[in-house]
Amino acid sequence: DLVIGTAIAGGGHHADQDYPDPFTSDKKYRKTAERQFSSVTAENQMKWEYIHPERDSYNFDTADAIVDFAERNGQDVRGHALLWHSQNPDWLEEGDFSDEELRAILRDHITTVVGRYAGRIEQWDVANEIFDDDGNLRTEENIWIRELGPEIIADAFRWAHEADPSAELFLNDYNVEGINAKSDAYYELSRDLLAREVPLHGFAPQGHLSIEYGFPGDLEDNLSRFDELGLATAITEIDVRMELPEDGRPTEAQLEQQADYYQQALRACLSVDGCDSFTIWGFTDKYSWVPHTFEGEGAATVMNDDFVRKPSFFSLLSTL
Ligand code: XIL
Repeated sequence: DLVIGTAIAGGGHHADQDYPDPFTSDKKYRKTAERQFSSVTAENQMKWEYIHPERDSYNFDTADAIVDFAERNGQDVRGHALLWHSQNPDWLEEGDFSDEELRAILRDHITTVVGRYAGRIEQWDVANEIFDDDGNLRTEENIWIRELGPEIIADAFRWAHEADPSAELFLNDYNVEGINAKSDAYYELSRDLLAREVPLHGFAPQGHLSIEYGFPGDLEDNLSRFDELGLATAITEIDVRMELPEDGRPTEAQLEQQADYYQQALRACLSVDGCDSFTIWGFTDKYSWVPHTFEGEGAATVMNDDFVRKPSFFSLLSTL
């Protein structure tokens, strides 16, 4: 069964954000998240810098609230993310640890965080964005791979599986919607991990698309090859951004094209047996990360700033 999810903006996530945490402060936001979706992902609040701000202390407040929210609403939860090069706290990135200490730090983190929500989180992004666009492991940027070597990836999956044997454990990345050097690297890694009986269960293209770059027409073929390996697949963070005109308002033609991209992505997922989760990276443009990250671009979600449903909302609905 396919679940349709959204990222939940837990606040505090843009340095320049000019709004309070919508999850706690915006009732309409919460109601919409409750009614329209069957899965949720914490957009930021399970990342290291939020959930593990000091070496000896965790902050589970918003993560707990999101998991409780999902449980009340009968929604799945996607956990995001355990081993990543980005959004790590300074104490970790700038600390001076021996290899043994670093390994213990990762193991404790995974055991603690995954263990806390054991049985309540359906899918975990265990390794996030570990390859660059050329298909090379991020051996410089990623502290774990840099300091401990690539086998730490397999260990992260093993530790997560020990902490919650019922969670599906994923590789997650962007620019791997189509078949290319980067998704090939994931394919080879998946084969290797599976051959060694590492508990890997899924592969997920995030789905951060732009109407400026064309739709990755081989998405379905790509998902299928991972399906044939026996892996689940998912689209975990889809949004479809565009360059905004001077007045900041997308044109009808842009919105139609965006609707078509969302629809094609959902169709691809629906065509592949093991694709059981389709998550949009926020549902309203009001709280989308896109304008904060891609200059001049925006309008990437399925509702506008006033929560009015865009053509993309209806194209998804009509496809289900
Ligand atoms: C983004 C969030 O949406 C932003 O709020 C935050 O400032 C940066 O991270 N790939 C991922 C997500 O795996 O965690 C990223 O989320 C978007 C790209």
